[in-house]
Amino acid sequence: MKNILVTGGAGFIGSNFVHYLLAQHEACRVVVYDKLTYAGNLDNLRPAQDNPRYAFVRGDICRREDVAAAVRAHNIDTIVNFAAETHVDRSIMDPDAFIQTSVYGTYTLLEVAREFGLERYHQISTDEVYGHVPAGHSSKESDPLIPRSPYAASKASADLLVNAYHVTYGLPTTITRGSNNIGPYQYPEKAVPLFATNAIDRLPLPVYGDGRQMREYQYVGDHCEAIDLVLRRGQVGETYNVGTGVEVENLAMIDILLDTLDRPLSLIRHVTDRPGHDRRYSLDIGKITALGWEPAHTPEEAIALTARWYRDNEWWWRKIKSGEFQQYYEAQYGERLRTAAPLN
Ligand code: NAD
Ligand code: TYD
Repeated sequence: MKNILVTGGAGFIGSNFVHYLLAQHEACRVVVYDKLTYAGNLDNLRPAQDNPRYAFVRGDICRREDVAAAVRAHNIDTIVNFAAETHVDRSIMDPDAFIQTSVYGTYTLLEVAREFGLERYHQISTDEVYGHVPAGHSSKESDPLIPRSPYAASKASADLLVNAYHVTYGLPTTITRGSNNIGPYQYPEKAVPLFATNAIDRLPLPVYGDGRQMREYQYVGDHCEAIDLVLRRGQVGETYNVGTGVEVENLAMIDILLDTLDRPLSLIRHVTDRPGHDRRYSLDIGKITALGWEPAHTPEEAIALTARWYRDNEWWWRKIKSGEFQQYYEAQYGERLRTAAPLN
């Protein structure tokens, strides 16, 4: 029996991972530990709520005693840490919570993992720690970390702490660095769910700059499978990139999305770019494929599947978009959209 503490498990990828674990491993108990920030949502965990192998604890990863109490109460042997502030644009507006959660919070979790002698501490990281990747290159796990946004810098800092705890204290750690995930339950501030839900409502899609930036959009279920594989077969002390190996321009992603939702390209608005916007991410995924994983979905399939999920699950996103989100949207996009030119 494995008892896994999934920190940040009420968010997008964390909740998908909880459903994945409960479905795939009958001998596994899952405890979600989550602060429920604006991005945490118990609706994401609804399919698990009556499962006797699932429990929820509301808490902050920065509070060591609270984390320790959860570990003790549930006899935890493994922590998988998804908890973070995750949106680059919000990190530009106000980095404080990013540093607090990813740097101090990760440190706190590592201390608890050490105190209880856990079997594994797994950190969920991102391809953004490598910074902008020039054409012709794909980031390897050994590449230097050159993060360029407060979000990416907070995540890179966490990776450094995790590695330091492995080297210094022998803590059994692993790290996965995922590319852009898409799929069910992603908060509609991120590009794909924002564009899908705007398109459904025939609202403009605010595309930063020329829209030719490149991301490796991957299906969240594929990422969950890779994390699980690293937990079971990954080498302690190692880091694994998880992506598709295929980069997609934002405008191409929008094309698939609008086509799936039967909406016109005329919804596109080119708006003022994000400061320091990384133009390209690209991962070398040789190390994780050598472990026996490959993505089950192409980026095209992932984008279309995601668009259809938002079309079919308005119950999930309409209440989010009608709340605090409105002020965020106005602050982030109001002026930009009022001064934007439509696609010609
Ligand atoms: P999300 O924003 O949807 O969810 C984050 C979750 O963490 C929320 O449930 C929130 O309540 C919780 N949380 C935040 N601060 C907390 C704290 N101090 N204590 C406890 N819980 C806290 O994020 P996501 O998109 O699911 O990303 C999950 C992880 O994966 C993050 O670490 C992120 O950096 C990483 N990641 C995300 C992507 C992506 O495309 N979304 C890609 C690669 C890596
Ligand atoms: P996002 O989902 O914020 O992820 P990332 O962390 O990779 O920046 O954005 C994905 C891509 O879409 C990125 O190149 C920025 C771009 N983008 C827009 O063009 N408009 C938007 O409103 C948003 C949120 C993102």
